[in-house]
Parts: sequence; C-alpha cells; structure tokens
Amino acid sequence: MRILGIETSCDETGIAIYDDVDGMVANLVYSQVDIHAEFGGVVPELASRDHIRKTLPLIQQAMLESGSNPTAIDAIAYTAGPGLVGALMVGACTAKSLAMAWNIPSVGVHHMEGHLLAPLLADDPPDYPFIALLVSGGHTLLLQCHTFGEYELLGESVDDAAGEAFDKVAKMLGLQYPGGPAIQKLAVDGNPQRFQFPRPMTDRPGYQFSFSGLKTFTMNTLADIEAPDDQDRADIAFAFQDAVADTIRIKCRRAIENTGIRRLILAGGVSANTHLRQRLATLEAEVHYPALSLCTDNGAMIAFAGFERLRHGHTEDHAVLVRPRWPMSELIPPQSI
Ligand code: KG4
Ligand code: ZN
Repeated sequence: MRILGIETSCDETGIAIYDDVDGMVANLVYSQVDIHAEFGGVVPELASRDHIRKTLPLIQQAMLESGSNPTAIDAIAYTAGPGLVGALMVGACTAKSLAMAWNIPSVGVHHMEGHLLAPLLADDPPDYPFIALLVSGGHTLLLQCHTFGEYELLGESVDDAAGEAFDKVAKMLGLQYPGGPAIQKLAVDGNPQRFQFPRPMTDRPGYQFSFSGLKTFTMNTLADIEAPDDQDRADIAFAFQDAVADTIRIKCRRAIENTGIRRLILAGGVSANTHLRQRLATLEAEVHYPALSLCTDNGAMIAFAGFERLRHGHTEDHAVLVRPRWPMSELIPPQSI
C-alpha cells in the first residue's frame, strides 16, 4: 500500500509518500520560516497563501522522485487538526480533491498523533505500551499509550507549550524565530554555574506543566542586568534551556515510576533539543526519538499515521472538515468507532 501524506497545519508544507513495503519513498518539507521571521512568529494568512503555492508542486515532485504515478497511490492522509484553520483547509481541500479524482480513500489525521507515531518509523521501533512526551510549538502532552489509538492523558501544560516558551524567550534575547534551535545554539557558550532557574510545578504531585512563570523569571533576570552582553545572554539561554529540560525529566521520571512502564518516547519539535536528550538519557528507561528530520513538522509522520488509521479500519467521506481545536483525548482507535 502506498499512501500520500500532506501536512499543512502551521508553517511547513510537508509532503511524503509512505509504502508499507519500501518505507518512506519520498519526504519533502518546505519551511516558511523566512516569510514569518521578520514578524517574530507565524502570520496565519501568509501561511495559508504560501501552502497554496507549495502543496501541488511538492506533491508533483514527490510523485516524480518516488516514481509513482497516480494509479500507484492507494490513499491520501492529511492533517485535519489541530492547527491554523486556513492552513489546514489547504491540505484538506487538496487531499479531498485528489482522492475524489483518483477514486481512492482519504484519511484526516490528528497532527499530534502524527508526531506521536514518528518514532515508530525508526529501524528499531518501540513496542506498546509506552509513555509519550509530545513537545511542540503548540502542545506539551504527557501520555500513557496503551496501544495504537488508546492514549491516556497524564498531564499537559496549563499555559505556554514548551516550544512556545522557547520561541518567546528567544525573542527576549533578540534571537530569530524559531527560537528553539537559536537558544540551543546560544546556550552552548553559556556558563552552567551562573544561574539556577526554577523547575515549575515539580514540587507538587501530578504531571501538569507550566512554562509561563519560567518565561517571566527569564525576563526579570535579563532586566536585572544593565546592558546585557553576549555572555549574559548565553548564560540566560543555558539556564532557561536547562530548567525546561530538567522539568521535563522530572515529570517523565514520575510517569515511568508510577506506571512501571520503562519505555519513553519523545516527539515534536522540542524533542530535537540536544540538551533535553542528554538530560533524559539519565532516566532508567529506554528512550526513543524520531529521526531529527521527523521531530519538527513533516508529511512523513502524517502519511504513516494515516496508514495506521486505515489499517485499523478508518473510513471517511469526501466532506472537507478540519478541526483547528481538537483535544487528543477525543481520539479513539478506528476499530472501536
Ligand atoms: O512540532 P513542531 O515543528 O511544530 C508544532 O507542531 O508546533 O515544533 C515547533 C517548535 C518551535 O516552538 C521550535 O522553537 C521548537 O519546536 N524547536 C526546538 C528545537 N527545534 C525546534 N526547541 C528546542 N530545541 C530545538 N532544537
Ligand atoms: Zn507539530
């Protein structure tokens, strides 16, 4: 089975073709980051317009590169939510139109389920059950994953998502969007001994996260320094990144100990962070990550999640429906619908 995946939920146009025998035969990502950088964040209308420009040419390129003509494609998966409504509509309309023209099924995928399943594309994929931490620009979710489609929410962020906190702190430090990679780079020169930032909500039970106070703490630390230089900014970047990574480590350790599940997977843009990976390596658990290229948004994870859904009996008609807000708790395995 060969499945075309279309990801357009935010500022990346991701197009991939997954084949259950040959694997990922095409995986193309076009990032809009240059368009949004001058505004310091994603401008939704510009995102939609650019997806319109890029989606069909990238599909053509993926078909060409993988030697697939339309008759070789058995189904189309697209991100149905959560995300920016206009951006989602571009992917959904393209998927539905092609599915109708080619007379094949289409499947709407939950963007975070796409992230969640990305580590399963590795050569040595983890078995269920596992604990999953999804850390992206829009979400911080800690889940207990019993089997495909059965995900129990343990905790989430009560305010900013981890990636969002990285992006906002980067802006304070005068760094370019997206902030995560920029902070990681700056923090390399930071002095680990200089500041100790708080680890929010780690002193109370449970699995909720909160990064908004840490952001304010960072802002105040910066404001207390008269004319901060590059070293000051690097020291702050290190302290902030270390606080986020350590907070995540503490919550993951708690989930592993309380559930007895010694298998953790990490996914989403922030899972690319090297310092976070080093911190999590100290846990007494197997830790799985997606390939670096599959941490941030891409079409491969959508193609694969769509394949899994179809394999479990998912069906839908050709109506174009997207869900900009879509709690992951409302996801259920297709076989139980
Ligand atoms: O999963 P993703 O590509 O998009 C969403 O679904 O939101 O995640 C993007 C987020 C951004 O906030 C970006 O700053 C963050 O992931 N990010 C990182 C790194 N690479 C991307 N954060 C920390 N360290 C990184 N290396
Ligand atoms: Zn994402």
